[in-house]
Amino acid sequence: MSTHDAERSAPIGVGRARQNAIYRPGALGVAPTVPTDALELERRARRAMSRRAWAYIAGGAGGGATMRANREAFDRWQVIPRMLHATTERDLSTRVLGTDLASPVLLAPVGAAGLVSDEADLQIARGAHASGVPYVFSCQGCSPMEETAQEMAGTPFWYQLYWSTDEQLVDSMIGRAEAAGAEALVVTLDTTMLGWRTQDLDLGSLPFARGQGIAQYTSDPRFMAMVRERVAAAARAGARGAEALGLDPRRPVDLVRAAKGGAGTVVSMSREHPGGLRANLRSAEPRAAVETFLDIYSNPGLSWEHIATLRERTSLPVVLKGVLHEDDARRALDSGVDAIVVSNHGGRQVDRSIGALDALVRIRAAIGPEPTVLMDSGVRSGADLFIALALGADACLLGRPHVYGLALDGAAGVSAVIDNVVAELDLTMGLVGTASIADITRELLIEG
Ligand code: FNR
Repeated sequence: MSTHDAERSAPIGVGRARQNAIYRPGALGVAPTVPTDALELERRARRAMSRRAWAYIAGGAGGGATMRANREAFDRWQVIPRMLHATTERDLSTRVLGTDLASPVLLAPVGAAGLVSDEADLQIARGAHASGVPYVFSCQGCSPMEETAQEMAGTPFWYQLYWSTDEQLVDSMIGRAEAAGAEALVVTLDTTMLGWRTQDLDLGSLPFARGQGIAQYTSDPRFMAMVRERVAAAARAGARGAEALGLDPRRPVDLVRAAKGGAGTVVSMSREHPGGLRANLRSAEPRAAVETFLDIYSNPGLSWEHIATLRERTSLPVVLKGVLHEDDARRALDSGVDAIVVSNHGGRQVDRSIGALDALVRIRAAIGPEPTVLMDSGVRSGADLFIALALGADACLLGRPHVYGLALDGAAGVSAVIDNVVAELDLTMGLVGTASIADITRELLIEG
């Protein structure tokens, strides 16, 4: 076969196919709903979101230095493309922990996405399925995992767990994730408490306090047993006053504000709670569910001893998310977990912490090439993916960008964001001269 024949018979690849899908309607004057440029995507999504949603989704810890560090870490690396390599076909597929990936991308767990859109988790799942990308369901999801699993329609998914202070709830959630068909259990380590999130604090806005993002809990039998106990105990103790809401009854301004805002909160809690809105408005349960959640959410006492119990508690591969120090990475792998996610939670937890890509480099150097390492925090494009893979990531999680896609165009927006990132990875691979994920190596980069 001549070189020309080979070119004609080669598939065009996902990158060129995506370009065609955008340029063809473009020629007729139709621009894409979801921008391909990451900053423009963010800008347009901001306009489509409420202030509360924007604060929660885009916000970070403190002054935002960690979020900046995440991007600056990428900016320090540059690709050196090779020429005349005749790379006509690329294979973006890979396998991570027994899950087959069409490309080295999964959707990161993102809680309280209901701030952005109705049925947020279901729409994200539909978008992930449409693009054939696995989704890591959040423990702070807005739909029960069983319902989100249905929408994945056979595309693999993993389940992310926040370790509760209630051990029975931990077991219950793991059991449900297994039964629903999750292919791995991701335990997030970095959020044993919420970070100091200035944007949310300045709006006094915590989605969970309004019942948003607690659907994995309100659909859980163990959790609901605790809620019912609480309702019964409150009934025995009698009604509680404004102090219970953290308000000062001596400040009339607080009470007026609370009367206005409180009505919205009660409606929000009642809307989010399982069952009908009318019945919920008359019931003490939605409010008790929020309070129970706030009591048992995450566990500041989480330690290596807890992690050691996982092997007996699940047969799923276990992934620890939020590892940043090489000693923690070593210890995680020594303790028998199957993989780690190098992540600083998108800069939402500790301000002025190490950029996730910088941590990836240090961790890969410490643990060698074998262990499975994923990374997230700051991945915005196919070129970013290329750099993370070259520096030792086996795959990356895509966080905020997919939520911006959701804000702009629902499930189709999620899918568009994934397709754009994967298209750019494919084109970068083709232009640089890498035919497979394994070909993407450190030798193709310089630190600038
Ligand atoms: C998150 N993240 C997260 N992680 C997790 O393990 N469980 C969760 O429920 C959430 N919730 C959540 C909500 C929102 C709005 C964001 C932006 C992030 C962290 C997430 O999985 C991932 O680590 C970051 O999003 C990565 O950073 P970038 O790339 O989005 O900046």
